[in-house]
Amino acid sequence: MNKDEFILKAEAIYKSYLMGVTEVKVLEGVDFSVDKGEFVAIVGASGSGKSTLLHILGALDKPDKGVVAFAGRDLSRYSGGELNRFRNKMVGFVFQFYHLLDELSVLENVYLPTMVSRGVFGWLECRGRARRRARELLEQLGLAERANHKPYQLSGGERQRVAIGRALMNEPNILLADEPTGNLDSATGNGILEVFEKLNRAGQTIVMVSHNERVAQRAGRIVILADGKIRRA
Ligand SMILES: Nc1ncnc2c1ncn2[C@@H]1O[C@H](COP(=O)(O)OP(=O)(O)OP(=O)(O)O)[C@@H](O)[C@H]1O
Ligand SMILES: [Mg+2]
Repeated sequence: MNKDEFILKAEAIYKSYLMGVTEVKVLEGVDFSVDKGEFVAIVGASGSGKSTLLHILGALDKPDKGVVAFAGRDLSRYSGGELNRFRNKMVGFVFQFYHLLDELSVLENVYLPTMVSRGVFGWLECRGRARRRARELLEQLGLAERANHKPYQLSGGERQRVAIGRALMNEPNILLADEPTGNLDSATGNGILEVFEKLNRAGQTIVMVSHNERVAQRAGRIVILADGKIRRA
């Protein structure tokens, strides 16, 4: 396989946490990579380190040891500004509990990442375009009628679709999803997985974490995180 096809690659990742005087070893030499266009699921028991790994892949956390490289470039060599750009533009995060802002409308929640990345003057210049893109995303996600609602007025499945819209707003290279259906009943969760499948068919690279094998089956490839390492399913 062509080396350039690897867009995000983690090698020999170690991470442990100190709980008082005890060291809890979570990741002990994880190797993982995702190719452009893939939909990969990482499964593992609760506490196996899935969220820890996903945060490290998205540069929300740093490994104790090991290298995460995006398009061949080691993230630990990025400057602060480059890291912010990576978090804001290259990856999009979807979380189990949505993390939407209740004071903002659905539409505002979706375009928030663009607002944050542009600064005041940049935002004034691009806000028309950003609003249009946010509306398009809401339409694709079946939420056009909900643009002016507040998140607390929506169902769980609708909130998660808003969170997906927000994650997609800046056209990320990779969508990172942490138990995106973990808080939803199975029919609603199924709707979210259908959204992911459709996005992936359109070329979106996705890494999804779940403790649920049935959910993971929807991905094109499954890897298992156990005993601090990745195994192929
Ligand atoms: N900030 C922290 N401080 C101390 N320990 C932590 C911290 N974050 C995670 N851990 C520990 O690391 C281990 C892995 O946690 P992590 O959240 O990555 O697991 P997970 O696989 O996502 O679990 P779940 O399926 O329940 O979400 C757990 O034992 C957890 O208690
Ligand atoms: Mg977790």
